[in-house]
Amino acid sequence: MEKLEIKNVKLHYYTSKGIIRALDGLSFDLRAGESLGVVGESGCGKTTLGTALLNMPTPPGRIVGGEILINGLDLLKLSENELRKQIRWEKMAMVFQGAMNCLTPVYTIQKQMMETILSHRKMSKEEAEARIRKYLNLVGLSADVLGRYPHELSGGMKQRIVIATALFLEPQVVICDEPTTALDVVVQAQIINLLKQLKQKLKLSFIFITHDLATEAEVADRIMVMYAGKAVEIGTNQQIYGPQGAAHPYTKLLMAATPRLHQKVDQLAFIPGTPPDLLTPPTGCRFHLRCPQVMPRCRQEEPSLIESEPAHTVACWRCYHE
Ligand SMILES: Nc1ncnc2c1ncn2[C@@H]1O[C@H](COP(=O)(O)OP(=O)(O)OP(=O)(O)O)[C@@H](O)[C@H]1O
Ligand SMILES: [Mg+2]
Repeated sequence: MEKLEIKNVKLHYYTSKGIIRALDGLSFDLRAGESLGVVGESGCGKTTLGTALLNMPTPPGRIVGGEILINGLDLLKLSENELRKQIRWEKMAMVFQGAMNCLTPVYTIQKQMMETILSHRKMSKEEAEARIRKYLNLVGLSADVLGRYPHELSGGMKQRIVIATALFLEPQVVICDEPTTALDVVVQAQIINLLKQLKQKLKLSFIFITHDLATEAEVADRIMVMYAGKAVEIGTNQQIYGPQGAAHPYTKLLMAATPRLHQKVDQLAFIPGTPPDLLTPPTGCRFHLRCPQVMPRCRQEEPSLIESEPAHTVACWRCYHE
């Protein structure tokens, strides 16, 4: 893959309460070998984005607009069969949020890994076993784990199994949804280092979803900040975390609310209010109700992502004027 382009993608959930606009016109791109971090508060649409990228919305969700182009080929125009044969797990794989807790408890690791691989590829049992061993080795596990059941493994080991399984079919893009959230800090660091090594060794592109900015700063080349189903800021790691700092008021608050070492607890900032209800998103800028720098225009007109410097785009009326 040379380039993945996401253009104005909309994924809405059609619930009995109404339409939840979980992704409401999202655009960004991802180059080969690049890692893009996606951050934002709970409910802003991060997991929904992952499912949209595989054209696999969770019911009652539907993709209602946009294009997802892999080297110019629009995934949203492919049939289920074509998606399964050409795209899902072949070109793009996803490590789902909480996947390590979804390993089948009654099967050994060997059995579940074999099933996954043989359901996608015609190969002999010996070839499949060799492939499994190769990827276990890559994620730092010994073949001893193969005879064990999931409950006999630690959280970190299970997460490594899930990552190995996502890599089996040698995809070019791997989407990791909160891959370290349920793990203790030591294991978190190990998994992050593992993902960084894999990126280098396998020349993978990563989309790394997390609400944890500190993790993102470690792994991502570029960062996309999401708020209420939209991107509010996209920039390089340096542009978002560097001395000049982020531009969007939401990103600034999100950064200020991230705990740091040697910081007194009473100094920790928080973002006032709660994220908006996506059934009835606010008019204008979706962040205006919580924004400390709100202007009258922000309440009525929606800002679009505009380049503030090369590679750095921001959707904020105030930022355009500064
Ligand atoms: N299957 C579903 N049916 C209805 N609404 C859904 C469904 N999945 C997600 N949503 C809604 O879509 C919005 C975005 O959810 P999503 O799971 O993508 O958020 P997220 O950013 O991944 O949150 P978290 O950080 O908690 O994982 C939320 O308002 C959520 O309630
Ligand atoms: Mg999620």
